[in-house]
Amino acid sequence: MSTFPTNTTVPNAVIDRLQRPLRSLRVSVIDRCDLRCRYCMPEEHYAWLPKDDLLGADEIEQAVSAFAESGVDRVRITGGEPLLRARLEEIVERIAHVSSISDLAMTTNGMQLAQRAADLRRAGLRRVTISLDSLNRARLEHLTRRDALDSVLRGIDAAISVFDTVKINTVVMRDFNDDELVDLIEYGKSLGAEIRFIEYMDVGGATNWSQDQVVDRREILTRLEEHYGPIATDGAQGAAPAARFRLQDGTRFGIIASVSQPFCGACDRSRLTADGLWYLCLYAGQGHDLRTQLRAGVDRQILVDYIHSTWEERSDRGAEVRLETPARSALFQIDDLREDPHREMHTRGG
Ligand code: GTP
Ligand code: 5AD
Ligand code: SF4
Repeated sequence: MSTFPTNTTVPNAVIDRLQRPLRSLRVSVIDRCDLRCRYCMPEEHYAWLPKDDLLGADEIEQAVSAFAESGVDRVRITGGEPLLRARLEEIVERIAHVSSISDLAMTTNGMQLAQRAADLRRAGLRRVTISLDSLNRARLEHLTRRDALDSVLRGIDAAISVFDTVKINTVVMRDFNDDELVDLIEYGKSLGAEIRFIEYMDVGGATNWSQDQVVDRREILTRLEEHYGPIATDGAQGAAPAARFRLQDGTRFGIIASVSQPFCGACDRSRLTADGLWYLCLYAGQGHDLRTQLRAGVDRQILVDYIHSTWEERSDRGAEVRLETPARSALFQIDDLREDPHREMHTRGG
């Protein structure tokens, strides 16, 4: 077990084969979702994780505290849609109490956030990121296969009044929402929420993905510059997926260029599925089974040592490998996904 000698602020951090520390954990609490976004869940019916396999609040807390001891200080709760998880507030509260977790965030589709935001804040959640891919009702309905706009906008309003930081994620798809970039920036500006444009990724679940639908970072910037004039970069990207930019009036926004300019080189993130498999990369073929260890009641130090030794062997750079793949097309088709639902983006956490 080796420590991370160059990072004095995280004495326990362990480094992988590419010198990347383990700092950030995305914890999926449920694989189900109440929307069916075409870039993530284009089918109506899916193979779901067996309910008995989902980690309980206790098990999630034990796992997170073992990760905290291994250097993790940032946790993001994901789904599917996390607000569909029963007693989510209790899970939030338990994670918030794990010492050394300094940043606790959640990614949500916002559908049920208006009713839940205040309770989540009381439980210890400090920031949320909400998915909003169009401001046009019919378009959003076409994308999500549900009449979602009013609920999502109400969720965003509630989030703004309750949380310290609210971000909005927009997956940009050609001929779908690529004419709304300015409207979305203006909407975010009016609320004080940062918009992040995400390149459409060929993750598991995106069975209809094709390269020609990707609007890349360069094109997004060109289109915005046509409207706003010169755009400046805003600080270094570090280990964050989003590169940040600033308009001349000071408005900030982000671009997550996972397809055209992957950021695997600085990736300090890993993912825990709702049934306790630990994935070292969004694109990893296999997860590491923590559920069996948690349910066998293994000694905490054994779990911490397992996390360390597994991370030390990590050399994943999934998005870079995809970029090097010639004639790239959708990663999986629906039969592959039904064979192993862990391949789904909605199981690994958005
Ligand atoms: P902050 O904590 O606010 O900085 O959030 P974040 O930048 O980590 O972004 P968020 O968790 O909202 O993730 C936004 C999107 O970025 C995800 O939905 C994915 O599409 C993409 N993304 C996040 N993490 C990874 C990753 O590890 N690899 C790749 N390729 N894409 C990622
Ligand atoms: N491409 C890019 N981002 C995706 N997400 C899900 N599927 C994709 C995809 N194919 C991300 C979006 C969404 C979050 C839940 O997951 O950011 O807001
Ligand atoms: Fe849409 Fe998110 Fe649900 Fe996928 S998990 S269908 S992106 S809301």
